[in-house]
Amino acid sequence: MHYIAVINQKGGVGKTTISVNLAAGFAQRMPTLLVDLDPQGTASAWASLASQPLPMQVRHAAGGFDAERPLADGERPEVVILDCPPTLDSDTVVRVLRSVDRVLIPVLPSPLDLWSSLRLAEAVEAAQRDNRKLQASLLINQLEPRSALSSAMEGALREFSIPSLPTAVRRRAVYRSSAMEGLTVFQVGTNGAPARAEFNAIIDEVRT
Ligand SMILES: Nc1ncnc2c1ncn2[C@@H]1O[C@H](COP(=O)(O)OP(=O)(O)O)[C@@H](O)[C@H]1O
Ligand SMILES: [Mg+2]
Repeated sequence: MHYIAVINQKGGVGKTTISVNLAAGFAQRMPTLLVDLDPQGTASAWASLASQPLPMQVRHAAGGFDAERPLADGERPEVVILDCPPTLDSDTVVRVLRSVDRVLIPVLPSPLDLWSSLRLAEAVEAAQRDNRKLQASLLINQLEPRSALSSAMEGALREFSIPSLPTAVRRRAVYRSSAMEGLTVFQVGTNGAPARAEFNAIIDEVRT
């Protein structure tokens, strides 16, 4: 089983959007569980809004993450996506970093936003000393459609200790409009196709 946590201490960078769509994309390929670890319960509220069943199982873990017993009775996923609260200091995030295989760190495509994640990089490196299997990647979110990264951002990424995935998530209206209906980009029509393609590429990148 594969555990992927989506973390960033900042709110609004796209953790929930990425967790929900990543889980829906994985669910096209294998049984997938999305665990909502944010006390605000955004991902679970999203799922409860859905007008059609979501392809993945969704659970709100109000009590945090129990690394000894991460699954509830009857859950048998091959992939577990953890949507984390916007903090680094909670026991939940500390436990998550100690036990998962992968963290994805959404960052907005500006050098300032990247540098504000420096403490996050330190927390990940500290966790990697105990958890040798932990792989971390930045995932650029809200990249302007059809434009490339600025050269300032390219430079900042080169200096950053955590590598970024080759595929970025573009800023697309369909991420917002599908969320408003409690759906994912995997359940909307042809206008979701470019978004599905980028999530499928991201899934291929995190599985290798
Ligand atoms: N790639 C994107 N394109 C368009 N809107 C996005 C994108 N990613 C996130 N958003 C929007 O940005 C806001 C914050 O995203 P959210 O996933 O809730 O962030 P977080 O969970 O980190 O607080 C939401 O309104 C969401 O719909
Ligand atoms: Mg969120």
